[in-house]
Amino acid sequence: AAKIILDCDPGHDDAVALLLAWGNPEVELLAVTTVAGNQTLEKVTRNALSVARVAGITGVPFAAGADRPLLREVQVADGVHGESGLDGPVLPEPTIELDARHGVDLIIDTVMAHEPGTVTLVPTGALTNIALAARKEPRIVERVKEVVLMGGGVHEGNWSPVAEFNIVVDPEAAHIVFSAGWKVVMIGLDVTHRALATRAVRDRVLALGTGPARFVDELMDFFTQAYEDNQGFDAPPVHDPCAVAYVIDPSLVTTVNAPIDVETQGRLTTGMTVVDLRSPAPADCPTWAGRDLDADRFWDLVIDALERIGEP
Ligand code: BDR
Ligand code: CA
Repeated sequence: AAKIILDCDPGHDDAVALLLAWGNPEVELLAVTTVAGNQTLEKVTRNALSVARVAGITGVPFAAGADRPLLREVQVADGVHGESGLDGPVLPEPTIELDARHGVDLIIDTVMAHEPGTVTLVPTGALTNIALAARKEPRIVERVKEVVLMGGGVHEGNWSPVAEFNIVVDPEAAHIVFSAGWKVVMIGLDVTHRALATRAVRDRVLALGTGPARFVDELMDFFTQAYEDNQGFDAPPVHDPCAVAYVIDPSLVTTVNAPIDVETQGRLTTGMTVVDLRSPAPADCPTWAGRDLDADRFWDLVIDALERIGEP
């Protein structure tokens, strides 16, 4: 099984990413860390613990990380995720306690405690914790197997015409992560805008008839309305589990090896992931951009994970 650390800001789609990571047997969830993004750190951390209760997650440390971007002010996505960050379902009182460590230290400790080349980082929020971890303990850059992140896109945007939320919220952190030298797989909007929670998908989820499945459906109810109102989607793109799905089965995502840099200075383009597709990437280029998703097999994985989670 692939050992992963999920660094997230739940967040409707982060919650589904957590359920997929927990329910899929090919993933060993080593740790969960949270970062300010969709909502304040306090809210997303509580949400992560509530989802852990819904899914019956035990034996996995959860820690709170950075409460703001490296340089910029906090920007939350309450239009998409609501006042709580996870509006829709009733959020159960958490039953597990937070790890006492800072999320950045939990990431570092976990990577350093495992064999080199065995731990994959899966960030599904702003890249603040990952950038801080790489700066605080630079040895993790060689030790991590790869960073598979949800963020960016090949010149597509959702928070601006050319920038995606997770990148634009903390572009300096994103710049650090993309240029560190470790392998980075960018699961951006080109991929995740194909992961639509259509009526047909939601019916398959509901047919499972379990508490966690109903929880997902209630999340999707709110998410559907939010994406219709804000971005004109008929069915919402469920971004974050695409990164987990890539770790489970890379053949779900078409990727291209290309240099990727993050714009931090642009007047109109801050937070853009600039992908150089002009010619084949140099042999040592460590960055990859996702371009397409096999959506049917993606949803099969999500539904299979919910089925395995059952009624915890
Ligand atoms: C990303 O932004 C957040 O709102 C979602 O959770 C996802 O990680 C999509 O742009
Ligand atoms: Ca997220």
